[in-house]
Amino acid sequence: MESFSTVIRTASHEQHVEAETSTFMGDLLGGRLGVAAFARYTEQLWFVYEALESTAGRLAADPVAGPFVRPELLRMPALERDLAHLRGPGWRSTLSALPATRAYADRVRECAEGWPGGYVAHHYTRYLGDLSGGQVIRDRAERTWGFARKGDGVRFYVFEDIANPAAFKRGYRELLDAVEADELERQRIVAECRRAFDLNTGVFRALGAEFPLSA
Ligand code: HEM
Repeated sequence: MESFSTVIRTASHEQHVEAETSTFMGDLLGGRLGVAAFARYTEQLWFVYEALESTAGRLAADPVAGPFVRPELLRMPALERDLAHLRGPGWRSTLSALPATRAYADRVRECAEGWPGGYVAHHYTRYLGDLSGGQVIRDRAERTWGFARKGDGVRFYVFEDIANPAAFKRGYRELLDAVEADELERQRIVAECRRAFDLNTGVFRALGAEFPLSA
């Protein structure tokens, strides 16, 4: 039988390709957009991580979600430094969530408050992605907009306290495999992962509409 981590990964593969090849991501990674688009994307992430991390403390003792809540993953301090760099000292008053971002953050919060398994699905979709493809995004952002390597602007992508991301991801997959959930609940978690990918794609679509390429 396939491990749960493999099932999740396989189940979301198609949507991963969709997210990765979205017009907005393609334009961003292709260096075709200005830094304002990158800032707007970073701003949207702030709302998603606010939902993920402001609720994490309460889930730390939960038997299902608790093992995933790890301080070395927390992204909010890094995101806030990046936004201060991108938007200046008044960055906080510039924040506004796109409707698609609002929907994403609301769903994360809903899971955090009532369904730990669903929270795990969102946790996986974000943090394991940030530890993987996030590194590609960081590299391109540094080169396109001239941020200092692993410095302000791209700190979100730098996990200072994770020395070996590959080993960390292996450990994370072991946690997924050991998650306390029966078959039906595992299926629900997989479905929520798909939903998490869709919510990300929705944000990319909205960003793509806001930053169209003028040929
Ligand atoms: C241009 C954007 C992206 C690139 C280049 C990218 C690239 C990658 C790469 C190279 C991996 C490594 C797979 C491995 O460990 O062998 C990965 C894994 C992953 N990515 Fe992405 N990705 C992107 C966008 C996204 C998005 C938008 C999400 C969802 C929010 C996401 C979620 C994930 C997850 C959850 C994994 C872990 C899969 C697993 O091993 O279980 N990625 N990505």
